[in-house]
Order: sequence, then C-alpha cells, then structure tokens
Amino acid sequence: MDGNGRWAVNRGLPRIAGHRQGAQVVHDIVATAPAAGVSALTVFAFSTENWKRSADEVGSILHLFVTTVTKWLPDLVTQRVRVRVIGERSSLPPDVRTAVRVIETQTESGDGLHLNVALNYGGRAEIVHAAREFATACAAGRATPESLTESTFESNLWLRGEKSPDIVIRTGGESRVSNFLLWEMAYAEFFFLDVLWPDFTPDALNDVIRMFRKRNRRFGGA
Ligand code: IPE
Ligand code: MG
Repeated sequence: MDGNGRWAVNRGLPRIAGHRQGAQVVHDIVATAPAAGVSALTVFAFSTENWKRSADEVGSILHLFVTTVTKWLPDLVTQRVRVRVIGERSSLPPDVRTAVRVIETQTESGDGLHLNVALNYGGRAEIVHAAREFATACAAGRATPESLTESTFESNLWLRGEKSPDIVIRTGGESRVSNFLLWEMAYAEFFFLDVLWPDFTPDALNDVIRMFRKRNRRFGGA
C-alpha cells in the first residue's frame, strides 16, 4: 500500500493524513473484495524497516492501527471478516499488542474474507522465524532434518494455513518487492501500479483481477 506519504505531501498535508486516507481505502477494498472474487487479502501496513521513519510517523501509524481496528470491529464482525495479524509482535507497544489480540479473537469465527494485516512484518524475518521454530522442534526431538519439506516449513510461517497469493499489487509507482511475502509469492502474478494507495479504488481492483484472468500461468510447466 505504497504512496500514502506522497498523496498527503501533494496536498500540503502531513504524511499521517495520507495514512489515514489509506486506511479508509483498506476499509472500502475489504467491503468490496469478496464480490470481486477475493477470498483472502493480505495488506502490508508496517514493515520491519519502517522503524527507520521519524518517531512521530511511526507512533502515528501504530496509533492509527489501534483506532482503526477498534472503530471497524463491529463492521468486520457483520461482514464475517476473519482478521489475523502477521509479523513480529513482541516488539510492538503493549496497546498495539492488545488491539491485535482483540481484533483476532473477536473475528476468529468469521467465515468470510480472510484479512491478514502485516504489521512489523518482513518476509525475511518470517522465514527466519519459521527456520527457528523448526530448529527448536529438532533440538527438542519433535522433528528431524529429514522431516523438513516445503509444507512442514510453511506450517511455521506466520501466514500458515493460507493459500499462496495469486496476485501481488504494489501501488505507488515503484517496481520492487520490499520484503513482502517472500516465500508465499513464489508464483504470484505481479501488478505494479502508478496510482498512489489513497487513490486506489474497488474499480482498480476489478481491473487488476480482469488482467489477472488473462494471464497465462504455467507454474513451471510448458
Ligand atoms: C504507505 O506509504 C506505506 C506505509 C509504510 C505505511 P508510504 O508512507 O511509504 O508513502 P510514500 O512512499 O512516502 O508516498
Ligand atoms: Mg513508500
């Protein structure tokens, strides 16, 4: 969801105004995604690298997460959305960890859209986390190196249980992955869009899905 800062600066607004507008767009996309044929949506809200930003911006983004999930909780429950948060939780402030716990527990039985929020997430961090879990299991005698397969490895990823994404959309005009879902995106179709995230719309999502359906996916086959 890149481009929030530029969207705000273009309007002479503080960067956080762009993040706020960006959050509103997430709300609109979550509401329309199921009708567009989307069963799972993972949004990159805050990366393990975003701590490099000013303390003011970091604090504002994390605070925005807390106020947003609190405000949306009733809507999400009504829409039967199941929310999960992926990322390194232990270094998040206590109020953020509490909000994560509340949103996950209260939406746990949702049988509609799977909404995964990547918060303090890094693709490499996720892979290291999974490797550490596996090494711990080996050290405790619960697993052996020979028992490691792609699927047992995946069972230790934060995004475990979710089908690998078919589509990766990056807004904001940059053509790079920036440490998102490194393991999971092995066979995803990429869409790098020039639109800034706060200007992204349900129509734009439908356009991407239309283009996706025209792509010829061979998964290594001929
Ligand atoms: C939002 O966009 C993504 C987050 C890290 C929350 P940016 O804040 O990176 O916006 P630009 O790239 O500065 O426009
Ligand atoms: Mg950016």
